[in-house]
Amino acid sequence: MRRVAIMADETGWHTRQLQAALRARGAVGRTVDLADCRIDTGAAWHGLVIPGFGRELPDAVIVRGIAGGSFEQVTRRLGILHALRELGVPVYNDARAIERSVDKSMTSQLLAAAGVPTPPTWALESPAQAQQLVMRESAAGHALVLKPLFGSQGKGLQLVGRVDGEHRPLPALERGYGSVAYLQRFVAPLADPGFDWRVLVVAGRALTAMRRVSRHWVHNVAQGARCEPAPLEPALARIAEDAARVLDIDYAGVDILPAREGPALQVIEVNGVAAWHGLQKVTPFNIARRLVDDLLDRKLGELRRARDGARRA
Ligand SMILES: Nc1ncnc2c1ncn2[C@@H]1O[C@H](COP(=O)(O)OP(=O)(O)O)[C@@H](O)[C@H]1O
Ligand SMILES: [Mg+2]
Repeated sequence: MRRVAIMADETGWHTRQLQAALRARGAVGRTVDLADCRIDTGAAWHGLVIPGFGRELPDAVIVRGIAGGSFEQVTRRLGILHALRELGVPVYNDARAIERSVDKSMTSQLLAAAGVPTPPTWALESPAQAQQLVMRESAAGHALVLKPLFGSQGKGLQLVGRVDGEHRPLPALERGYGSVAYLQRFVAPLADPGFDWRVLVVAGRALTAMRRVSRHWVHNVAQGARCEPAPLEPALARIAEDAARVLDIDYAGVDILPAREGPALQVIEVNGVAAWHGLQKVTPFNIARRLVDDLLDRKLGELRRARDGARRA
C-alpha cells in the first residue's frame, strides 16, 4: 500500500479531503508537520526522520502547508522537502516550485521574462529608491499595491502612490514587509463590485475556475470575497496554463485580473500551496481526487520511468 505524507501545519478540511482521496485510491495519507520532521544522520541511511514512517521514506509527499518561522526554520523545512526529492520521493509541489511561487518577486520576474502578462512590478530593498519609485508612479497617476513578499490570503496589502487623487507615501517597511518593497502597479477594477479569477491548473491543464467578487479591491476568499463559478474561457485557461508552465509547477492556483489598460488578462500571483475550499464549492468534480490522481498516476509514474531508464542505461 502506498503511504503518502501530507505535510501540513494544521489538520482540517483540506487534509481530510486529501486523506479521503488517497483512501479512494487504496493509498494512505498521514498528516505530518514539517516542523516535526528531522535530520538525524544516525537514524537511517538517508538521514531523515519523518514522524509516522519509522526508518522508511514515504512513497510520495503532498505539501499542504508550511508554517512561517525564522529564516533558519523555514530554510530547514524547505531543506527537508529538497532532501526528499533528492532521495527520489516525489514531492507535490516540489520545493523548487514552492520557492518560485512563495517568493512573489521571483514569480513576477519569471512571468515577465517569459512574456506572460503581469502588471509592472518592482522588488527592492533601498528605502530611498522605493520612495522615489512611488513618487514617480504617483506623479504619473498610478497607484501601487505594496505586498508582503511571502504574503497570502490578502493579508497586509496596501495601496500607495496616487490613490483617489491623493498621494499616499510608502510606509516603513521593517514591520510586516521584512524591509523589502514589493510593489505592483494597481489594476483598477472593471466593475463594481470588482472581481478576479482563480484558475486551478493541474499537470499543465486548467481544470476549473471561479470569480472572486467583492466590493473591496482585495478579492481573496479569506477577506470575504464571494465565489462564483466561471467558465474556463480559452484565453483564461491559456494564461493560467502559461503561468504554471513558466513556474514549472505540478499544480497551481493562478490569480488573474481583468484589465482595461494593457493586456486584457494579467496574472497577479501563482499559488503553489493553494487552498481550494472556495473553488470546490463551485466545481462539479472533487478537486482533491484530481490532485491525488495526478500525483499517483503521472508524477509517481514519471519517477518510476526515470528510475527504470537509469537502471537500463
Ligand atoms: N496589482 C494589483 N491590482 C489590483 N488588485 C490587486 C493587485 N494585486 C493584488 N490585488 C488584489 O489583491 C488580492 C491578493 O493579492 P495577491 O497578490 O494574490 O496576494 P495573496 O498572496 O495575499 O493572495 C488579489 O487576488 C487581487 O484581488
Ligand atoms: Mg492571491
